[in-house]
Amino acid sequence: MTDAKKLFIKTYGCQMNVYDSERMAETLGVQGYVQTQIADDADMILLNTCHIREKAAEKIYSELGKFRSLKDAKPNLKIGVAGCVAQAEGAEIIRRQPMVDLVVGPQSYHKLPQMEAQVQAGYRALDTDFPEEDKFDHLAKRPKAKRGPTAFLTVQEGCDKFCAFCVVPYTRGAEVSRSSERVLAEAADLVERGVSELTLLGQNVNAYHGHPGGLAGLIWQLSEIKDLKRIRFTTSHPNDMDDALIEAHRTCEKLMPYLHLPVQSGSNKVLKAMNRKHTRESYFSIVDQIRTARPDLLLSGDFIVGFPGETDADFEDTLDLVRQVGYGQAYSFKYSARPGTPAAEKGEVDPKVAIERLHILQALLLKQQYAAQASMVGRDVKVLFEKKGRKEGQLIGKSEYLHAVHAFAPGDMLGQVVPIRIIKDMTNSLTGELL
Ligand code: 5AD
Ligand code: SF4
Repeated sequence: MTDAKKLFIKTYGCQMNVYDSERMAETLGVQGYVQTQIADDADMILLNTCHIREKAAEKIYSELGKFRSLKDAKPNLKIGVAGCVAQAEGAEIIRRQPMVDLVVGPQSYHKLPQMEAQVQAGYRALDTDFPEEDKFDHLAKRPKAKRGPTAFLTVQEGCDKFCAFCVVPYTRGAEVSRSSERVLAEAADLVERGVSELTLLGQNVNAYHGHPGGLAGLIWQLSEIKDLKRIRFTTSHPNDMDDALIEAHRTCEKLMPYLHLPVQSGSNKVLKAMNRKHTRESYFSIVDQIRTARPDLLLSGDFIVGFPGETDADFEDTLDLVRQVGYGQAYSFKYSARPGTPAAEKGEVDPKVAIERLHILQALLLKQQYAAQASMVGRDVKVLFEKKGRKEGQLIGKSEYLHAVHAFAPGDMLGQVVPIRIIKDMTNSLTGELL
């Protein structure tokens, strides 16, 4: 018997890519590949890429450069590029990077088996189509192996919002929801294999319409799976936070009190130029409604500074919004012009000014994040233990609010949701004790 072929996958970017990489590994597993963590050992290297900002995309080309000598030493090594850079620049990658054997866009992963065969036969394979069918239905099933306590589950892909800065509507295509039957079947299977917490993924997840009751309807139905203990979802658009979803935050015990609700800017002028289709006032109003429904909710957000035309006064509006809303966690980025997006045509803010603004915003967001974490000390939370800690007898997991918590606890509590009192703030995590 010949040895199994080895697959090394490197994942960049968002959680959806993490999920996609898992599914690609499973599909190639059916083709006889086992995963390796060591690139040097691999028969196939697959880079699952991100195109959201210039830096992310550039990384791929420098990464490919690093694999060149490996390919020279091992001519049978196959190199593939998947994900959003593949979608956006696929043909160019094939033209410019002779070392790349396979380029597959995010909507074509179910074609991987044929493409792999093509590559093994000595050809190069490129597929960046947007087929009609649900690719996940055509991907080989997850093997019945036991799983850790948390899992991602993609329920929606693509986006119809067309924010002026964003490549997602082009790389991931129009908004598509998977049917709730398929999602429920996959969720039930994951739970059977040990998953207690599901994070439902979508680029605009709360626009989900694969269930007559929308995302809220799906959440309620998932909550009926007995051994599923926790449900989360990400990423949301403020305009799609409908009443049913807000109500679910009030009454669905399995839905965690954490919400990632990007606003991008606090200036109405910039929001308009970004084509966000909401105002700072409408954002405040939604946040108010959600917090009324779920007062302990921890809010997270995304921000872009230095969007074309952003003045000091606009940036002040962003700082003011952050002060008023109060975030427990946030991501902030310097605007990066992406080819093909409407904003890329506009004149850019001086990069020095943009960096300065980014530092100011990040300092404020970090202060809020630390304050939110420090405020947990003395509170009782529920922790889903995910793995062993560094110290003997210690377990690490996440609270309802996604704070990392470690505590001394018996090993059989792994995978369980356990009441914990927070006793100390350790900056990057919280220390707790069993109640
Ligand atoms: N430049 C900077 N940040 C961006 N994002 C999306 N596109 C860009 C861009 N062109 C950020 C947004 C989004 C997050 C996933 O990435 O804040 O919410
Ligand atoms: Fe991109 Fe999100 Fe805007 Fe859609 S809603 S275009 S994914 S930033």
